[in-house]
Amino acid sequence: MYSINITVGEKLTDVSKSLYGLFFEDINRAGDGGLYAELLRNRAFDDGIIPEDCKYDPINKTITSPTGWVSSFDSCEAESISGWTAKNGAEMRLISNGTLNENRKRALSVEFNGGEIQNEGFGGIPVEKGKSYRFYMFAKSDVKAKVTVCLSGLNKEIYCSHSFCVEGGYKRYECEMVSAADDNNARLTLTGNTGDRVVFGFVSLFPTDTFMGRENGLRNDLVQRLLRLRPAFLRFPGGCIVEGFSKQTAFRFKDTIGPVWERKPHWLLWSYMTTNGLGFHEYLQFCEDAKIDAMYVCNCGMTCQGRCPDYFDDKLINEFLEDAVQAILYALSPADAEWGAKRAANGRPEPFSCLKYIEIGNENWGGEYDKRYGVFYKRLKELFPQLIFISTDHTERSGLKTECVDEHFYSDPIFFAANANRYDSFDRNGVDIYCGEYASTIGCKAGTLYGALGEAAFLTGIERNQDKVKMTSYAPLFKNVDCVSWEPDLIVFDNHRSYVIPSYHMLKMFAENRGDSVCRCDIVTDSERRKESGCFRLKDGTVINGNKLSGEFEKDALHIRFWDKGTDGEEQDHYDFTVENNISRVIHYNGWSSEIICDDTPFGPKELNSVEITTGCDSFDIYINGKELHSCTLSPIPHLFGVCTVDNENGEVIAKLINFSEDKVQVKLSCDRALDKDINMTVLTAPGKNAKNTFEKPNAVCPYTVHTVLPDSGMLELEPLSVNVLRMKI
Ligand code: AHR
Repeated sequence: MYSINITVGEKLTDVSKSLYGLFFEDINRAGDGGLYAELLRNRAFDDGIIPEDCKYDPINKTITSPTGWVSSFDSCEAESISGWTAKNGAEMRLISNGTLNENRKRALSVEFNGGEIQNEGFGGIPVEKGKSYRFYMFAKSDVKAKVTVCLSGLNKEIYCSHSFCVEGGYKRYECEMVSAADDNNARLTLTGNTGDRVVFGFVSLFPTDTFMGRENGLRNDLVQRLLRLRPAFLRFPGGCIVEGFSKQTAFRFKDTIGPVWERKPHWLLWSYMTTNGLGFHEYLQFCEDAKIDAMYVCNCGMTCQGRCPDYFDDKLINEFLEDAVQAILYALSPADAEWGAKRAANGRPEPFSCLKYIEIGNENWGGEYDKRYGVFYKRLKELFPQLIFISTDHTERSGLKTECVDEHFYSDPIFFAANANRYDSFDRNGVDIYCGEYASTIGCKAGTLYGALGEAAFLTGIERNQDKVKMTSYAPLFKNVDCVSWEPDLIVFDNHRSYVIPSYHMLKMFAENRGDSVCRCDIVTDSERRKESGCFRLKDGTVINGNKLSGEFEKDALHIRFWDKGTDGEEQDHYDFTVENNISRVIHYNGWSSEIICDDTPFGPKELNSVEITTGCDSFDIYINGKELHSCTLSPIPHLFGVCTVDNENGEVIAKLINFSEDKVQVKLSCDRALDKDINMTVLTAPGKNAKNTFEKPNAVCPYTVHTVLPDSGMLELEPLSVNVLRMKI
């Protein structure tokens, strides 16, 4: 019933060294309040600044872009001074005159009256006994003000402190303090005497213990989580935040370099403000420190097409193109060239040679994209032929020169399993693929074992086809539990802890066990019929229940949904039968993904058509005007998925086997080479599809390694719902 026959002697392709990478986007406070180690919230008092080109609605707490996209503008961003409170008689207010520099639109003016102001950080400031913290502020005062900074507990215990005499115009005041205690919920307190009036232009607090000890650095524990995945590259900075939903909210690299107190903030389309402290320079620095390649995603001259797009005019497209050119020059040109000199002034004379890939746009498509992609690709490739350029749509189908296409999938686990062979039939001479964002989302928001199994099944197909699919990255990476806009996310954290979801473990198992080449493996498996259900929905919204639809339809109404589960947006799950441009087709929409179910069938619709659709549990028939147009049985879902590679150095075969079923399976393993019977096997499983990790039980789903001896019969037992990686000596 179940067997796997490995043919080491038949090499399918080399392993792609770049297959597993990271995609970082500042979503769910992944940047400020997350990976970026700044401990103060709203350090530059920018929270609440409304993007200039949007209108604020204080009643509904929303902003509306010039093209009509409405987005939430909440989190007390607009009404209070987020992160800060005044206590014991101190009074504070935001002022917009006399700020630190032109990019600082606000400063915080404080009358201390013998009291204090406090910053709560991102859900409390975590401090550790014996660890040191770097504090600095830009402040000014008309009087001689004694300002004391301290890290303190909620009950006023002081862990460390330092006093400054603030006098005259803006100056930088700094100190390093060592905490005398552990406290995950500390505060930064600034106290002053009666009569002291101080204007703060910018205030910052960092642990000295950042990744590689960098001053404007990253949270070490979170970086270690990333590095354990052995990534080959980092895609940054987004995602939709690159696109924005208005001209002002689109990403520009220039706002993200230079001294952090001079950087403009950026309203992220995920509904919070970033300081841009984690900017282009820091991303590149991280890539270099982590010894991985960098992939920069640039805005291509439009805002997000799913959010009332604004297609920029030629002048603005050109401005964004120049922004991309300058970003690349910033990374790569020598220190004596214009943009290289700016990099050198920011402390880095040598070029960042880790920059290898440029993605032109994010999730952009269609004619508007083609037009912009063509212009960007031509100019950028001419200037930087050594870089690899990635498009976000199959631009080669429009006759444009395309090197690599970024495909995204957000669906349910079954969709992933059903599409495990998606790339088997790809044109070997065609473009390369980068699977830049994917995750089991539907039914898996908490990050479940089943989600990881679906993704693992899909990845076995990708590994088999890594001559074509050269790169992948799961998305999104991070979630701060206090600010959630997208789930699931690979790494979940609060201000001092983190845990990972089962997909993380699966990816780590895959990335740690690469080998050098993919060899043939033939799998025999039982499979399960799919169980579809749902209603019919007509173009005008009419719902028809049951499993048969028949009626007369106008030519332009030939757009009928079936097996419609009544869900929309990212939860959508339905099949669309459409006739457009004399082509009839059926597409399955699942989450943010889709698959063509039936081959296109030519059909020239009449003015009026009699249509009959019948659905079974995994099959459907579509008749038009008495003639069969589509008759289809959905392919069943295999129980067993697998892929094998050969590790030359260790003389091993690596088999990745996924048992997608809820039962144990006995697999007969055979190979064209004699294999050592002693096998190391790493297994990821748990009781039940919905098993997940939490802060309380962070290891509820985590892999274990067993040493097993393969019997002469070659029968291997796989746990129900399991990802298994076997290393076998040849
Ligand atoms: O990963 C979350 C979002 O999903 C990304 O910003 C976007 O590219 C995709 O739609």
